[in-house]
Amino acid sequence: MIDETAVTALFEAALTARAHAYAPYSGFAVGAAVLTQDDAVHAGCNVENAAYPVGACAEAGAISAMAASGARKIAAVLVVADGEALCTPCGACRQRIREFAAPDAVVIVAGPEGVRARFTLEALLPESFGPANLPDAAARD
Ligand code: THU
Repeated sequence: MIDETAVTALFEAALTARAHAYAPYSGFAVGAAVLTQDDAVHAGCNVENAAYPVGACAEAGAISAMAASGARKIAAVLVVADGEALCTPCGACRQRIREFAAPDAVVIVAGPEGVRARFTLEALLPESFGPANLPDAAARD
């Protein structure tokens, strides 16, 4: 479970990061924020590149900020973008989240007006491959 105060904190952090998105090629600004298991919030925005494939998703930035803080456990992720369709994390970002999150972690999708949908990571990435699938998993806990 994630309390609504934390959802609000995630939404505000993601929206603030989205305002700094560098998306001159797609014009699609995205913000993301991760909630760690110790209740810290780390945000990121998408950062595109003239060499298109080098661009980075907002979720990747938020996860990098989390890792740089020393945290390693994601409880929830919120992604915010405009447009009619839900901005669910791309496949690569689902796997990035999986590295640091349990299957029951919450993935929240928002528009600028507020939360639109909530999923578990398991619903978005079933039967996933994570750190425990590799030999010597205990060494990385
Ligand atoms: N994007 C994200 O940052 N996160 C998502 O969940 C979906 C897509 C970015 C990548 C690219 O900069 C732009 O949105 C259009 O795909």
